[in-house]
Amino acid sequence: MTPPVRTEGWPRWPPPATAEQRERLLRVLDSGRWGATAGTETDSFAAAFARSVGVAHGVCTANGTVALFLALRALGVAPGDEVIVPAYTFVASATAVVLAGATPVLADVTDTLHIDPDAVERLAGERTKAVMPVHVAGAPADTEALRDVAARRGLAVVEDAAQAHGAHRHGRPAGTLGDAACFSFQSSKAMTAGEGGIVVTDDRRVYESLWSLHNVGRRIQGGWYEHPGLGWNLRMTEFQAALLHPQLALLDGQLAHRAARAAALGRALDQVEGLDPVPAPAGTTRHTWHLAMLRYDAPAFGGHPKRAFLDAMTAEGIPLDTGYRSLSREESLAPYVARGRFRCPVAEAAEETVVWVRQAMLMADDEAMADIGRAARVVQRSFSREPFRD
Ligand SMILES: Cc1ncc(COP(=O)(O)O)c(C=O)c1O
Repeated sequence: MTPPVRTEGWPRWPPPATAEQRERLLRVLDSGRWGATAGTETDSFAAAFARSVGVAHGVCTANGTVALFLALRALGVAPGDEVIVPAYTFVASATAVVLAGATPVLADVTDTLHIDPDAVERLAGERTKAVMPVHVAGAPADTEALRDVAARRGLAVVEDAAQAHGAHRHGRPAGTLGDAACFSFQSSKAMTAGEGGIVVTDDRRVYESLWSLHNVGRRIQGGWYEHPGLGWNLRMTEFQAALLHPQLALLDGQLAHRAARAAALGRALDQVEGLDPVPAPAGTTRHTWHLAMLRYDAPAFGGHPKRAFLDAMTAEGIPLDTGYRSLSREESLAPYVARGRFRCPVAEAAEETVVWVRQAMLMADDEAMADIGRAARVVQRSFSREPFRD
């Protein structure tokens, strides 16, 4: 048996903790002020993150899903409303809408796998209250076109920037492209505390609403047992903020590293027919490379389906990811989405044709990217010797 193309492992994510993270964590631990209402880490991280994005306010949350829920509620989404979300995204983009008591309406995506503004235009109706562009893979969606539809239809724009820490569109940071934006700090993300999230906004009134909703309906200067609004405990802990704050200074370097690896991956794939990078939306000026999404063309691989390709690549030491199922095919969502008004052929086709190289793999070196190309050619040769028969 021939040995696999790659025997070396892949970088781990998150990377090992830094001295500053250890120090900050211990400081919180020893202070006994572990909750955000007692300590200062969470507020100081929220302010620093908002500054890094270029907006005035940030409210930290327990995770990215509740950040989306919180942003929707703060922008006035209520039971009975509809929110348009793309069909090619993590399920939480839609379940956050359900959590807010509203109905997700699934819009198909363009060939970049980002929400299609024309589909949003067609789907917006009387009950539509908001649209949620998802900056999938770390490239911002076409928010100018969406804001244009939103302005004409009176919709709020909530950016799902869970994968887009540091992304730019036409030089403007993700987080400034809508009325509010949500980032995730879950384990796989560019900045992580295992779990966590933040909503950022430039609008003081939205901020006050976010703050109150995430803090059991309290007011910023109000009393502990005064709850003038309805709200929940969606707060982050001081431990999460202590882990996150030092990562702000590391982000730019990591983004530059991944951009260089993505370029090397592109060069490696130039030599593989039928495995091509999915284009980022025109206007992407900084991609975070949370994912490098690739289009797999089965006919160029002897007709072997995507599943067989993924298994063969794993056997060569290259563990790619299968990526999302279109939310239009997610049975668990079916009772909650606006039915009969969506077909998402582009997102559905992506299920069979799109594979992912994850962020952690893009933290490796150029040689590792060359290995991905080599392994794909080895698999292609072996598949072409044995064409697939169903
Ligand atoms: C696009 C997208 N939206 C929302 C979420 C939800 O974030 P979390 O896992 O922090 O709840 C994630 C990540 O998990 C995501 O990738």
